Parts: sequence; structure tokens; C-alpha cells
Amino acid sequence: MAIREKPYRSRAWFDTPELYGWLRQAAFRAQGFGEPAYEGRPLIGICNSWSELTHCNAHLRQLAEAVKRGVWQAGGFPLEFPVMSLGEYNMRPTTMLYRNLMSMDVEESITANPLDGVVLLGGCDKTTPALLMGAASADVPAIIVTGGPQLKGNWRGEELGSCTDCRRYHQELRAERITEEDWAELQSCIVRSPGHCMVMGTASTMAAVSEALGMALPGNAAIPAVDSRRLQLSEAAGRQIIRLVEQGLRPSDILTPTAFDNAIRTLHAVGGSTNAIVHLVAIAGRVGIDLPLSRFDDLSRTTPFILNLKPSGEFLMEDFYYAGGVPALLGAMAPLLDLEAKTVTGDSLGDSIAGAQSHNPALIRSLDEPLDAEGGLAVLRGSLAPDGAIIKPTAASPDLLQHRGRAVVFEDHDDMDRRIDDPDLDVRPDDVLVMRNAGPLGGPGMPEWGFLPLPKKLLQQGIRDMVRISDARMSGTAFGTVVVHATPESAAGGPLAAVRNGDVIELNVPERRLDLLVEPAEMARRLAAAPRPPAPYRRGYGWLFTQHILQADKGCDFDFLRAEALHAE
Ligand code: FES
Repeated sequence: MAIREKPYRSRAWFDTPELYGWLRQAAFRAQGFGEPAYEGRPLIGICNSWSELTHCNAHLRQLAEAVKRGVWQAGGFPLEFPVMSLGEYNMRPTTMLYRNLMSMDVEESITANPLDGVVLLGGCDKTTPALLMGAASADVPAIIVTGGPQLKGNWRGEELGSCTDCRRYHQELRAERITEEDWAELQSCIVRSPGHCMVMGTASTMAAVSEALGMALPGNAAIPAVDSRRLQLSEAAGRQIIRLVEQGLRPSDILTPTAFDNAIRTLHAVGGSTNAIVHLVAIAGRVGIDLPLSRFDDLSRTTPFILNLKPSGEFLMEDFYYAGGVPALLGAMAPLLDLEAKTVTGDSLGDSIAGAQSHNPALIRSLDEPLDAEGGLAVLRGSLAPDGAIIKPTAASPDLLQHRGRAVVFEDHDDMDRRIDDPDLDVRPDDVLVMRNAGPLGGPGMPEWGFLPLPKKLLQQGIRDMVRISDARMSGTAFGTVVVHATPESAAGGPLAAVRNGDVIELNVPERRLDLLVEPAEMARRLAAAPRPPAPYRRGYGWLFTQHILQADKGCDFDFLRAEALHAE
């Protein structure tokens, strides 16, 4: 371990003749800590997004205790503190409205306090990116420990994944192929434990990407939430953060352009969530790295999709752990990675995955026998999305990836809710469902409304997929031929605002195109006449959000939080 030349950051709070230097130590004594507990030791914050309103993070207090053990073992002084938590099921209108607020809470809690290093505890979809964004901005040594996936669901012997199979069975209920009694029984069978959704949804994707970025210990992503080995990994993170503090290894040393390339390739190899694109762009922005959508598409074309997990494949996160987890996956894709990238192990990515092997070749495929020759996500452009839109081809219907159809337009989510099951709705299976006013400003907060429900009358005819387009996001657990993040969004004057019922839309994923087949002059005329929705907030955080939110291709961060804003004239 390197010998420190500088005093710990925390000493600036204590080595001062001011009264408060003395009082801060009195405050430790008030909590029952004697001088040997803190004197001369690095102070380690345990930044905890535990909350009973966030069921995925409900076990993080237990993980915090394991982290504390590790910190004590390695000679540090651990102090746990709470930050905002973002529970995907409970928060309205959407957790995404609050991701940046949580990241600010994380950054300011770290920078304002006498902390030499931080272990970040998160799990549910937005909590992991918010922790990474805040820690990147604070730039104090940090390791993330995610909460791990839930146990597999099981209903009448069928293994189920939340919430891919919740969505699938909800369609079956609407199609009247299962009963209300079946649906009630399913409710206790699908989310069986704490932990995050156990398909390759946003939470699992961000956990995998955290490992590939080098911000989590090897193996972190896939250990089930209630497996004792997650406690052991948390304890190890408590020991390792002391080494990072001694080495002075900060997030800005780890979050380099090649680390982001490793993360993007991992995202494609796992068939990960569309949301991860927005989050990675935002995290990169916090360390002054510009990640254009073209980088995601370039790497998609040269990264095979090799992880066989729902919603794009068959297995669940618990199976992934038994197959070797992210280290085995990264081992399988090693020729595509920069193995020299630094990680929180203090060593290179190559060192941290050395010897990792797949124990299930049907789940972690080789680069020579992929599930698909290209990556799990594609970036589309065209007259309907000049600044980009995203589709997950691996979770789409192959026969719809090149498709022309009539637009059936919904003004917003309420309009869609009111009319989607109307027996008189003029809709055919080959139509394209379009919903606008669901982006960062229009939602507001860019809710996960992109997985538009299919009209009940088509479900009853046996239709299970249609092309759907919006400026919303989509849950990483969802599936289907769903185009999301159309940018710029309609509420900011984007071209979705110009679409009318009956217009023809062309989707061509192989050519990465998304076009409205209407003359440009006519589109311009319609856009000039399109009404802008009223401002959703006049005060408070919502007002701040609408004043400073960036579009999806810029990661939906606030303009004043990106690193370059620090250096602006
Ligand atoms: Fe928390 Fe899915 S609801 S990860």
C-alpha cells in the first residue's frame, strides 16, 4: 500500500484552533466513540439510499453494517449517512424527475462533510446512477455496492422475472387469457425478496455497468440480495475503501474515456436497458467526458450480444451469478475491452477478472457463438428524431424491425389511457402507435411510459407486438418493438409534435432510420402551428428542473451540473 504524503482530507475539519474543531470530536464522543475509534483514522462515509419506500433497497441497512465491519478491520472510522432514495414503484410522476436531485444530495453530503472516502449503497433503478453522478462530482475516493437482484419469482413451477413477466401476464389478463384470481395469486409469487428487479432491467444493467466502469468490486452485480456472499462483498468493500484512500485513487482516475467504452460494450453485450444510455451520458458529463449517441451506436455494431437474460433472453440474474457473473462475462468479451483500465481494486480491469470463467455457456455465450452479432441497443435518426432515438432490437419482434405503418397518435399519457381500449379506436395491427408530451419537459421527468399498452381489441385477436414511438423512456424490464427517447422531445418543439393520425412512419433499424414520410415544408408548417404544453411547475424543485434539464441525448442532467460548467466563462 502506498504511503500517504498528505494528511487525510478530514483533518481540515479537526486540526483547527477554532472551537468547532474541538466540538466535532465532542460530537463523536456524544455518540459513544472514544478517541481510539477516530483519532488518526480515515473517516469513511457510508452513503445509504435505504428506504422502506424503496423495496429494492430495503435491506441496505444490513449491508451498511457489513461495510462498517470492513472499515473497522482495515483501520478506518465508518459513519453511515442517509441520502434521498428513489423507489421506482412509489414515486410520482417518475423517479427520473428526482435522479439529479438525489445526485446533488450525494455530492453535497460528501463534499460538506469530513469524509476521506465513501462506500455508496444503492440498487433500485435511479439510485445507482444518482450515486455515481454525485460521487463523480464530489471526486472523493468511492466504491459502489449495489443491493443485488431479488430471488427468482416462481408461479406454479414457472420461473418469473420482475417485472418482465408482470408486464407479460398483465397483457394476458387484458386479453382475458388468465383470470383475476390468477393475477391476484401472481402478486405474491413474483417479487420474493428485497433486492432489485432480477431481469436485465435498468437496475441490473447499471450494476453490471458499474463493474465494467471499474467503480464496483468484481462480482458485485449479480450476487443475489439475500445471499450471504453479498454481505461478505460489502465487508470487502469496507476494507478496500481504506486502500483507495491511502492510494488517493478517485472517481476521476477511474472514470476515463476507455472505462466508458468498456461500460458501453458491456451494456450492448448484456442486452441492457435503454435507460443506461441516458445514465452513462450523465455520469460521463460529470467528469467532463462527452459521450455522443454515435459512440453507443458505433460500439453496438462491433459488440455481439452474448448474455442470455430476460427480457431479451431466457435466464435471470440469480442464474447469471451461478454462471460466473460479470467477471465471467467480461472474460468472455476480453478482446473487445481495454483491460488496462483502472478499477476500485487498485489494479487493472484485466487483473480483476483474471481467471474468471463461465460455468454456463448457454447463459454467457462466447463471442464466436453470440445470440446476435450486434449489440442490444441501436440509435436511430431521421426526420422523427434528428438528435436520436433508441430501440432495443434484441427485445423487439424481428419482423417489425423494418416496418411502414399508419400513425395512431395520442397527445399525451392521459389521452392514451382514455382511448387505447376504446372499441371505436381506428387502429390496425400494422399501425404505429405514437405518444407525445412524455419527454423530460413534457412528462415532466421523462416517465417510463414508452411501453405503450396494445389496444385490447388487438390483444384479443392475438396481437402481441406493434411498433410504438414516443419521447418517453421505457423500463429496462419491458420488451417489444418500442422506440423511445425521440429527441428533441415534442414539448421542446421536436418533430413528434408534427405527426397526425394517418401519416406514414417508416422504421428501418438495420439502416438506423426513423422517418415521418411527410414533406419537410409541411412538417415545418405543422411544427410552427403546434401548441406548446403549459409549464408544469411554477415553483420549487420542479421549476428548477424545467429551467435546467437537458434533453435525452445529453443524459437529462442539469446544465449546471456537467463538469464543463465549472470551467465556463
Ligand atoms: Fe427497483 Fe425494479 S423496482 S429495480
